[in-house]
Amino acid sequence: MAELEPDTPFEAYVAERGENPRRGVRTMRLSDLPAGEALIRVAWSSVNYKDGLAVRPDGRVARIDPIIPGIDLAGTVVSADVDGLAPGAAVLAHGYEIGVARHGGYAEYARVPSEQVVPLPAGLGAREAMAIGTAGFTAALAIARLEDLGLSAGAGPVLVTGATGGVGRIAIDILAARGYEVWAATGKAAASSDLQTLGATGVLSRDEITAPGKALESQRWAAAIDSVGGPALPYILRSLRYGGAVAACGNAGGASLETTVFPFILRAARLIGIDSVDVPIADRRALWARLSDDLRPQHLELGLQSIGLDELDPALEAIHAGEARGRWIVRVGGEDAR
Ligand SMILES: NC(=O)c1ccc[n+]([C@@H]2O[C@H](COP(=O)([O-])OP(=O)(O)OC[C@H]3O[C@@H](n4cnc5c(N)ncnc54)[C@H](OP(=O)(O)O)[C@@H]3O)[C@@H](O)[C@H]2O)c1
Repeated sequence: MAELEPDTPFEAYVAERGENPRRGVRTMRLSDLPAGEALIRVAWSSVNYKDGLAVRPDGRVARIDPIIPGIDLAGTVVSADVDGLAPGAAVLAHGYEIGVARHGGYAEYARVPSEQVVPLPAGLGAREAMAIGTAGFTAALAIARLEDLGLSAGAGPVLVTGATGGVGRIAIDILAARGYEVWAATGKAAASSDLQTLGATGVLSRDEITAPGKALESQRWAAAIDSVGGPALPYILRSLRYGGAVAACGNAGGASLETTVFPFILRAARLIGIDSVDVPIADRRALWARLSDDLRPQHLELGLQSIGLDELDPALEAIHAGEARGRWIVRVGGEDAR
């Protein structure tokens, strides 16, 4: 593949958050991209809650201005100044500073440090990888951590909150495929049948998990994956079974945590933190290999919408407003990639 000139132009979705906030598709040049060994032609990206924050002046996520957002990207290596990354190799990258403190995936080209690149596992295409994206990676990470702590199918019901969101729906999908009895908590009553198609045994309303309650309630959940936080996490803690564990992934419903110590000292509850951003690269590559194998979601096409860079605005608004019902993947470099 021929070396590209620094002034090579490409299309990118750019957000400016300063005095005159504006966003939209514009032409950038390779010389606008940050330093890094791997230049990637991006085929697909995705829309995550964090992207919805990164474009907003009040979002407190982006650390450069202007920014090409997009915390996920997948495509092919154009050039890489290191061994082991050949031009043409199918790769993905996400986490670390991508789409936050360095330009991300909403552009035809991205440049990232080689130690942040994940070769696409065999059997996983770029489009499918972005249908999983950071949201699905986070769901898989939570499930892997819970299983490391001893959770197994048959242990009892597992609750997933924020069920219609990216993390929630893929968590339900993977858990159900692994034989768990999964319950979904959602604020969208109309989504029940979709959630059951994904594999949920039953559906709770958001009100049931956010109402105030006693310090301890009847023991219901063997485990939980919580992407909502706020009042949902205290509910989970006080209704976990003895020795149960909750993986705290997000704060879509609030960042403060008000609980008592009773779930911990009387029921041996375990609260584990999930962070997808700074996962060491060897662990990240290993988990992606499992996402194409035993942790592979079975219903990625359900509720999946494919959009172009020029259709990002409404998707970013909707995900920020908590109105996501499926996942958006972003077709950046055309349909030709695997
Ligand atoms: N720890 C990590 O590394 C990591 C990685 C990815 C994401 N996250 C975080 O995880 C959370 C979910 O991410 P996502 O990509 O799944 O986002 P998402 O697609 O926007 O889904 C969030 C879901 O949370 C629920 N929700 C939204 N607003 C709410 C509110 N005010 N109160 C209660 N529930 C609300 C909604 O589901 P229902 O209507 O079905 O309840 C919504 O679909 C976010 O906080 C995100 O920042 C963390």
